[in-house]
Amino acid sequence: MSDKMKVILDCDTGSDDAVAIMMAILSPKIDLLGVTTVAGNKEINFTTDNTLRVVDMLRSDTPVYRGCATSMVAKLLPNRHGDYTGMTGVKADKLDEKGEVISYHHDCLPMPAPVSREQPEHGVWWLIDTLMKSEGDITLIPTGPLTNIGMALRLEPRIAEKIKQIIFMGGGFKVFNATAASEFNIWADPEAAQIVLTSGVRTITMVPLDATHQANFTREDEAELRKIGTPLAIAVADLLDERIVAYNAYQPQDLPDSAPLHDALCVAYLLDPEVLRDVRHMRVDVDMSGGFADGQTICDTRAYPDRPENCYVALGADRLRFSRMVIDMIRAFR
Ligand code: RIB
Ligand code: CA
Repeated sequence: MSDKMKVILDCDTGSDDAVAIMMAILSPKIDLLGVTTVAGNKEINFTTDNTLRVVDMLRSDTPVYRGCATSMVAKLLPNRHGDYTGMTGVKADKLDEKGEVISYHHDCLPMPAPVSREQPEHGVWWLIDTLMKSEGDITLIPTGPLTNIGMALRLEPRIAEKIKQIIFMGGGFKVFNATAASEFNIWADPEAAQIVLTSGVRTITMVPLDATHQANFTREDEAELRKIGTPLAIAVADLLDERIVAYNAYQPQDLPDSAPLHDALCVAYLLDPEVLRDVRHMRVDVDMSGGFADGQTICDTRAYPDRPENCYVALGADRLRFSRMVIDMIRAFR
């Protein structure tokens, strides 16, 4: 019997999701059972196509399942998403020197168009089937809006007992990006996030912006990747360059000329828990009011919260430990 960790990724592939998928495919410690896709950074056609691009680039046969194209209910109320352009939750309205819009994620990743095809089954049904047939040994790593996982839990609540753990990228303790109070993945589908947080899954770990912004990649990291020189390393260097330009334009970071690779930190945590710092067990709920705090992750730091703790929340990260892991994995792939 293999002692690899069984993992399912659920991604709105985008540039940082792409690196999360790469790590899960490249790690000898992970048995990646499949990737489900969700709308988020981009529409579902793009997030699915981008996922296939990554899988193909790594010459992997990981199956890809298309999931939900829209949030559970949030988009039914136009005012909740009124102020934002596109799907990203962030206004992309600055131009670079070539006159192109500066963006965290372009529609298509800078990799060849995919040759492999998505699976015929819907991602949510595949998640349910796979989890129900499992021995309770699968880790879910969602790195986009939690629509697919929320839907799966609504359709078949018994999967909650089957999931070993969920490590999700999303939320903020004191750091936000979509609105003054919310992080994008949670803001994009607050109801789904609340369903996940109150599902009763044994272990849920939230990797919020407070942690990911402490684990940024720099121009030195980009240069190291370019020096490796393989098509994979160059593709990641290009992604990094795009992200650093976008973060400098829209969300300048404490560490100058740097950018987070949020989603990849979740996979890194599975491989090496020391990569996250200051992980606290808390009560976390999601605001779904449609008001100023819509999509906020409300972390109860009181000594005696009204409701039981349901989530580990990472408030810090070890930047160098993380960047070393990512770059070494990319270097090893030929
Ligand atoms: O807020 C950052 C998150 O939103 C990342 O997962 C990014 O890929 C987008 O989904
Ligand atoms: Ca993502």
